[in-house]
Amino acid sequence: MPLVPMTFVKAENDTKALAAHAGRVVVFADAEPDTVARRVDRLTKGAIKRAIESPAWKKIKPGQGLELAFPAGMAASAVQLIRLPKRAKPDALRKAGATIGKALGEEGALVAAAAVKGAEYLAEGVALRAYQFARKAEAPKAQGEVTVACADPDAVKAASADLLATADGVHFTRDLVNEPANILTTTEFAERCVAMRELGLEVEVLEEPELEKLGMRALLAVGQGSDSPSKVVVMRWQGGGSEKPFALIGKGVVFDTGGISIKSASGMEDMVMDMGGAGVVAGAMRALAGRKAKANVVGVIGLVENMPDGRAQRPGDVVTSMKGDTIEVINTDAEGRLVLADIMWYAQDRFEPVGMVDLATLTGAIIVGLGHEKAGVFANDDALCDGFLKAAADTEEGAWRMPLDPAYDELIKSRVADMKNVGGRTAGSVTAAQFLQRFVKEGTPWVHLDIAGVAFHSKDTAFAPKGATGWGVRALDALVRAKFEG
Ligand code: BES
Ligand code: MN
Ligand code: ZN
Repeated sequence: MPLVPMTFVKAENDTKALAAHAGRVVVFADAEPDTVARRVDRLTKGAIKRAIESPAWKKIKPGQGLELAFPAGMAASAVQLIRLPKRAKPDALRKAGATIGKALGEEGALVAAAAVKGAEYLAEGVALRAYQFARKAEAPKAQGEVTVACADPDAVKAASADLLATADGVHFTRDLVNEPANILTTTEFAERCVAMRELGLEVEVLEEPELEKLGMRALLAVGQGSDSPSKVVVMRWQGGGSEKPFALIGKGVVFDTGGISIKSASGMEDMVMDMGGAGVVAGAMRALAGRKAKANVVGVIGLVENMPDGRAQRPGDVVTSMKGDTIEVINTDAEGRLVLADIMWYAQDRFEPVGMVDLATLTGAIIVGLGHEKAGVFANDDALCDGFLKAAADTEEGAWRMPLDPAYDELIKSRVADMKNVGGRTAGSVTAAQFLQRFVKEGTPWVHLDIAGVAFHSKDTAFAPKGATGWGVRALDALVRAKFEG
């Protein structure tokens, strides 16, 4: 869904515009109303002050708000009074924006932010939270316009441009992840990437015969039971001169039945989000292009569907990866790592990236370990890992480092091949990461993000309604900014 329409205007000094606005009006207060809220207080004969003195206000945290419906003395349908400390930090401003975005309806809102410093973060929060999924087949839902009235609209508009471009990338990811698998086939996914050529991205789609020639038997084996053709999409953003790129790699299993090692029926519908890693890579590339990042980044995603079929791979099959290592497929439901093995190798082989981050809804075990709050972070390089963790903290995207250790390799030893694709019941997320590390070249700094728990929430979160979250787009964007645009 496109971002909610937003304009930045110069705040008027009188109360007329506030009194006359027919939609929602948003004002700010902490222990005291700010200058604009005070005007609304006069218009409403003290309603703001009464709200601030109420027991309800005491329970309200920075960024949260109260709603005064159909206030006397104003044309507004509602006044939303938001708690915001005087020198609010970006996170409180973003939360305040999200509170506005959540309540937003068809009539839009006038955000009276003349006294707010850092209104660009308000705008970011509004944009992130004001998201509603509409299937491709449906008409998009109508959203009213948001008018941000501020002291220096040009400065706020300029400061919010990059934040909004990134938010647009987040929405792009959410749309991909929310879309049902009968619509978002491998072909449709690739087409949505190709459409981003409009933004200046170079996009290539590698089809099965090319993948066959490249030797990507591990990836192809996953998709061979599906009627949807397997594809690899390469997206390049060249904003930074002639340096070698940074690489983002994504697991794009458009639906994961488990294959012949079929999953149980209950909850299988959730596997519509198993292309979440690829979704985040596509959204991050969109964000970089949208804000014209001064960096070279390549996104490589593997698009497959894991289905049981007469042609599907069997447990016990041995496949040869592009790298040349052989893999015994013990469990066809451990398919993500087979896809990643080949595209990680391909990306390093072709682009010699200065660093690489892969994202995948890889293991149920990471949900057991970390729940839905934090993604699992595995890394062979402390500097890149710390850079990512800092970017994630700054953007309020939960992340927690997990171990890699050769000791776990014992668990993926195979009798007949170089490795097997599952490690047994213990340390499932670590053995998966350990497997992936076999496909990282000596000297490539690498971070693996297991996003099975964070890509999709069954309840609303601070910045997203229930469903796809777009987790990772903002952190990756911030990582690229810090690493290459500093
Ligand atoms: N896509 C799943 C992991 C997953 C589970 C994502 C729950 C989101 C929510 C992955 O392909 C998978 O099936 N993993 C197996 C691995 C096992 C067979 C070693 C799992 O976690 O059970
Ligand atoms: Mn699986
Ligand atoms: Zn999967």
